[in-house]
Amino acid sequence: MKKRLRTILAHTIVSLLFILPALCCAEQAAAPADSKSSPGKAGEAFTIQEGRPITSDQVMSQKHPPFARGMVCVECHTVTFDAVTSSTRQYINNYPQLKNEAVWKKIEAFLPGRERFALSTVYNNEPTATTVDMVLDKNEKVFYVVCEKGTEKLYQIKQNTKICAVHYEGWTVAGGGKKEWKSVQVRGTAEVIPSGDPRYSTIIDKYHLARLSKERAVLRFDLIRISPSEIVYFDTNLAGENAGIYQRWERSK
Ligand code: HEC
Repeated sequence: MKKRLRTILAHTIVSLLFILPALCCAEQAAAPADSKSSPGKAGEAFTIQEGRPITSDQVMSQKHPPFARGMVCVECHTVTFDAVTSSTRQYINNYPQLKNEAVWKKIEAFLPGRERFALSTVYNNEPTATTVDMVLDKNEKVFYVVCEKGTEKLYQIKQNTKICAVHYEGWTVAGGGKKEWKSVQVRGTAEVIPSGDPRYSTIIDKYHLARLSKERAVLRFDLIRISPSEIVYFDTNLAGENAGIYQRWERSK
């Protein structure tokens, strides 16, 4: 088999950001500030060893040639992606997965209180992203959001219940440098709970309103109940725990 060996500098991997947004996180994952085992530091060499073309649902065998932490499949293989097996899914398929319940515990620990998310709703094929504060109800495994009446997202959810939401903690270049990354990407369905609904009062108590009395809240806010069907938990620390940095929780499991 013809193999071509080539050495490139780590920073050229940044160019992959333009190919697949999900790889942005893998690049960040490859470069924590102080990990000795990290191959991601600028200037350090990677070895690209060309492999055969693969499809995105193919999984590495035990005999797969070893490669440095943080490298991804497309660096050595031409990968044909289908609509189902994204690069995140490819990662999940190829690295050790924790038990569904263990992934859930990590999600709970990452979202202890009222956490700020970017929430996407869709109407007429037009996505809208807004910021919301979401509170995780650990028993029901749902999120609650308090939302000003009459906003675009409430209208959209009434027409189309499908949502996607993201919360993250990480670093920026302007913010002074590299640290670990964590994020959750939530997919699921949303329901608007208006103030006349019998569930409203109990839910708003769980939410611990900070700014307004309950009396004003009833006049001003509707609630959103988000039921996740799937959550992708991303955590660069997991590499140290011998688990894949992407973990998937599923309600149906
Ligand atoms: C550092 C380069 C490199 C990276 C990164 C890499 N591969 Fe490979 N891969 C190779 C080489 C070299 C071979 C051996 C030649 C061949 O069989 O194509 C190989 C072989 C394979 C094979 C066939 C043999 C086997 O082990 O099953 C599969 C499937 C495969 N790779 C999938 C993947 C997937 C999936 C990823 C990402 C999770 C990946 N590879 C990442 C270089 C790489």
